[in-house]
Amino acid sequence: MSTTTSFRRMDESTAEQWAEIGSRTFERQDRVANRVLAMLEALGDITDGFAVDQLTHSLQTATRAEEAGAEDDMVVAALCHDIGKYVSVPNHPRIAAEILRPYVREEVFDVIRTHQDFQGRHYYHHFGGDPDAREQYRGEPWFALGERFADEWDQTSFDPDYPTKPLSHFEPIVREVFARPKSF
Ligand SMILES: [Fe+2]
Repeated sequence: MSTTTSFRRMDESTAEQWAEIGSRTFERQDRVANRVLAMLEALGDITDGFAVDQLTHSLQTATRAEEAGAEDDMVVAALCHDIGKYVSVPNHPRIAAEILRPYVREEVFDVIRTHQDFQGRHYYHHFGGDPDAREQYRGEPWFALGERFADEWDQTSFDPDYPTKPLSHFEPIVREVFARPKSF
């Protein structure tokens, strides 16, 4: 453990202090996966009238994505797509997307950010919403992936009888994806 005394104001900081902070932050990158896994576990407490709790829904969505041959970052994103509900159901897609953003491809970020608008096809008519909300994104290079995510993996994943893989199955790819930020 270094004895470097850190700054009290950023405008008094030194390069040496920032090197120390950088290396200590990097050493504890595993915190991110630990926090994400804990948030996913906590989704097990949220059911709110659905047939399955939100952890089961998340695991089932990821199971379907994996079985369809999706890449690891897409499978992890499928697992985490509703993680924003840990804090707030309103705006949950953006909360999840921003947590994922440094760790996944840009198109995967876009799919998670917009997933509720795609999902609306299957239930917005019950609220007087626009079932074609996804049309605003038609033409985007990730549009087809957004449709696949919502139509085949997410909206189908409220089935208590589906053979859903446990969180422990996904833990290795969660740790791998969150170990490597592509941006800060
Ligand atoms: Fe979902």
